[in-house]
Parts: sequence; C-alpha cells; structure tokens
Amino acid sequence: MIKTLEWTDSGVRFIDQTKLPTEETYVTCKTHEQVADVIRKMVVRGAPAIGVAAAMGIALGIKNSKAATGAELKQEFERICDLIGKTRPTAVNLFWAIRRMRQKFEYFRMRTIPQIKQELIEEAQRMHAEDIAANQAMGRHGATLMPTSGGVLTHCNAGALATCGYGTALGVIRAAVEQGKKIHVYADETRPFLQGSRLTAWELMKDGIPTTVISDNMAGAMMKQGKIGAIVVGADRIAANGDVANKIGTYTVAVLAKEHAIPFYVAAPFSTIDLETSNGSTIPIEQRNAREVTHIAGKAIAPEGVEVENPAFDVTPGKYVTAIITERGIARAPYNESLRKLAEEPAVASI
Ligand code: MRU
Repeated sequence: MIKTLEWTDSGVRFIDQTKLPTEETYVTCKTHEQVADVIRKMVVRGAPAIGVAAAMGIALGIKNSKAATGAELKQEFERICDLIGKTRPTAVNLFWAIRRMRQKFEYFRMRTIPQIKQELIEEAQRMHAEDIAANQAMGRHGATLMPTSGGVLTHCNAGALATCGYGTALGVIRAAVEQGKKIHVYADETRPFLQGSRLTAWELMKDGIPTTVISDNMAGAMMKQGKIGAIVVGADRIAANGDVANKIGTYTVAVLAKEHAIPFYVAAPFSTIDLETSNGSTIPIEQRNAREVTHIAGKAIAPEGVEVENPAFDVTPGKYVTAIITERGIARAPYNESLRKLAEEPAVASI
C-alpha cells in the first residue's frame, strides 16, 4: 500500500508528490514549519491528505514545544495553527483538522504538558486511520454506481496519494474493480500540475487497473465517442447546496457530462463537506504561481512576461452532480436536505 504520509518517531514522513512518477522519494519533516512548507509546495496534496498533514504538523509542533506552562503551550498551539492554516485556502479539510485538534487541546487543557502532547499525537494518528476507513466505506457505497464494464473518467488525483490510503474517487473505482467490474480508467492529465498523468496513472498502474491518460481537451471527444460510461471525481470543499469545489477543469467535465447524459459523481468524506457554507460562491479559490502554467519541468512553454491566470480550483454547481458519495452513504439532490440528513448518521470508525 502507498504510504502517502505517516507519523514516525523521527517526524512526519511524506512521499514527495512533486517528484512522481519518475522518482519515488520521501521527505521527513522534523518541525511544523517544514510541514507547512510541504503542504504549500504540494509535496503532499489532495484535500484529505492535507487535513491529516495539518493535524500531524500541529502534533509535531506541540511535541517539539519547550513551553513550561499550560498557558505558554496554548499560545504556541495557536501560533502553530495560524501558520498551518495559511498554507492552502480551498480544501476545507485543513480547517476541519485544525478545529478537531483545537477541540482536543481544549478538552485536555488541564492535563500535564506530556499528557497533552501524547493526546494530540494520538488524535492525529486516529485521523489518519479514520481517513482510510472512510475511503473504504465510500468505495463500498460508490462501487454500486459504477458500470459493470467500460470507461470511467476521472480528473486530477483523488486516490491513495490524495488521502491516507485507498482514495476517494479512485477508492470507488478500486472497490468496483475488486467486485469484478471491468473498468478502464480515463485519467485527465490535469494541467497545469499534471496530477492526472503523473499521480493517478502512477498509482492505478501500480494496482494493475487499466488506465489511459488523455489531455484535458480530449475529454469531450471521448464522451462523444461513447467511451465514458461514468465520471467520478473528488472534492476540496462541498457547500451545503451541493456545489463542489475541485481541481480546475472539473466544471468543464461536469458540463460536458450533462451534454452527453453521463452520470457525474463526486466522492468525498464528511471532512470535505462544509455545511456552514451555503453555496459555492463564497468558497475561497487558491491562485497559484504563474510559473506552474508557463513552465513544465523547469522549461518555458510560454513567452516570458505573458499574462497568466492560475486558479487551482473551480466550482461545479450542484445541479451537474448526479450524486455525492460519502462514507455515510450516497446523497442526491436536493443536497441541502440529503447532506444534512447524512450528517446526522454516525461517523465511520477506524478499524
Ligand atoms: O491542488 P491539489 O492537487 O491539492 O488538488 C487536489 C484535488 O483537487 C482533488 O481532486 C481533491 O483534493 C480531492 S482528493 C481526494
């Protein structure tokens, strides 16, 4: 199994996703500043993985703390959360993780400093295990929606690499394949960061799942040719009305799906669902460096000085989403009702 991130005695260890697929290397962060940096640089990426990385970063910062009193530790805790909270704005899992770590801190505030440290480390590790269990549950629910055979399109990487293991959208595909469905994945290459060609193709090939990489502008033609029976993507934040923020280009795929009457599914854990945000219009969209668009592997592919836009995400209106697959079950429109109803179901416990 791919170890996207893990807590070790010497720090938090990440597979370096900026180096894949040509190099499989790992980096170990020894401080919370280093964890913030690997989130910002997308060494670790994907909403659920970012959330758990944030939790582990907080636990690491507190573990390293020299605070002598509870009050000092609390001040340091807030400084660490503030730094980690400023790394990437769109994936709500980051803020969900900070909130959960803060609740833990408050709950154990009166304990000794070594006890508080231990509780936070355990909480971050629990979140890691819960994420894998949630993905497996999502896979069980979502596999029923996958065709028995044929092409399934995905955009970006919502796999083991974007989570603590198994994946959300790719978890649904993995579960369908485990059930004997003969699925052939079409992976959008996902410009400009190429999560589809570099990461999705890499992890699916490792699992022996048939995969074809296409450039993003080929998706419509593939749909028109009847090669795509379903689409499944992940999400960075889902608003209460079912609007979905996900990797830039997802909106285009969803509109094309509607035109071709192909079901468009979103797979995401409850840590990605933001019921406090009523619709997608207020979701903050991260703008990234122009160089990601103008350069590939350090080589210029656009004239120097050209104007560039580089929003990392877009928002797909809920009306294009056939269903949202969560670890607690499947939600369908109207999402304002179905998501709130699922939110009342018990959370999936880790094994
Ligand atoms: O910029 P990234 O690579 O962090 O964006 C990742 C995505 O958009 C994923 O589709 C999303 O986080 C879901 S991952 C299970």
